[in-house]
Amino acid sequence: MGRIHQYRGEHVLVEFEAERCIHTGDCVRNLPEVFNPRRKGRWIHPDAADVRRIAEVCAQCPTGALRARSLDDGRLLDQPPGYNSIQIVPDGPLYIHARMRINDQVPPSYRVALCRCGASRAIPFCDGSHQQQMFEDNGRPAALPTPGKATRGELDIRSHRPGPLRISGPFLLIDGEGKARGHYDGLSFCCCGSSRMKPLCDGSHAAIKGPPARRP
Ligand code: FES
Repeated sequence: MGRIHQYRGEHVLVEFEAERCIHTGDCVRNLPEVFNPRRKGRWIHPDAADVRRIAEVCAQCPTGALRARSLDDGRLLDQPPGYNSIQIVPDGPLYIHARMRINDQVPPSYRVALCRCGASRAIPFCDGSHQQQMFEDNGRPAALPTPGKATRGELDIRSHRPGPLRISGPFLLIDGEGKARGHYDGLSFCCCGSSRMKPLCDGSHAAIKGPPARRP
């Protein structure tokens, strides 16, 4: 976990983990009075909107880099989703929205972005390196295993270097066009960038020696 910056307001505490922010801009677009990187000094102003709205926008941060917490007991101001989902971002990471454990640790929110290109310095989390790597995958898999029924449960995520990213437990898979592709109970995803069956692992990682060469 990277360094966590805390912004304490009168009624809410906002946490920001810069290492996991990939600058999607959702917070700035949705609540510019609170999240404004152009302002001098602090970029988060937790007293500039009501707590419910701040909690809502933080809960939608797709990487989990932003979190709103209660000032009284530090509890996360968000609820777990009814059904877990994994969304493939075109030329980018996997967005996970779930109750989950990652390598036996419970992450601080219900959302994370996990690396697919293999170049992140914060593996298994995405740190935006796919942009410099010019990672390409449209997120529309031609073939997938036969889906099953929708069920509830926690995800158990295990990352291995150089691959794969093994995700056990129930989830809905959403493709790069936002189309639901079915419910699964575990799949192995490529996290090295080399698979010819993206987003799934096809074993190509076995040929990789050391970390992928980063573009300057
Ligand atoms: S992790 Fe990329 S092919 Fe297995």
